[in-house]
Amino acid sequence: LQVTQVKVMGLASNSVVAEFKLQENEMDSDLLTLLRDRGIPIASSCYGDGVCQKCLINGDLMACMTSPRELLTRGSNKVQISISYL
Ligand code: FES
Repeated sequence: LQVTQVKVMGLASNSVVAEFKLQENEMDSDLLTLLRDRGIPIASSCYGDGVCQKCLINGDLMACMTSPRELLTRGSNKVQISISYL
C-alpha cells in the first residue's frame, strides 16, 4: 500500500508543525480538510469555497483547492507544506 509522508513547516515559528502519513485514498482530498482533521489551524473564512484566499500554503496555493497529489514531485513519496503564519 502506497503511503505518503507529509511534513508541515511553520515559517513564523521556523519549526516543524506536524508530520503525518497519508494513505492512497486521501491523496485527492483537499489539504484544508486534511490539515484541519489533524488539528493544524489553517485560516479560512469561506469554508473551502476558494474565495477568501486565507488558506494559503506554500506561498500562493489555496489549501482548499489543492490536493496532496498535486504537491508530489515525480518519483517521490514526500509532500512538503509551509504555512507562513504558524
Ligand atoms: S478557505 Fe477560503 S479560499 Fe480556501
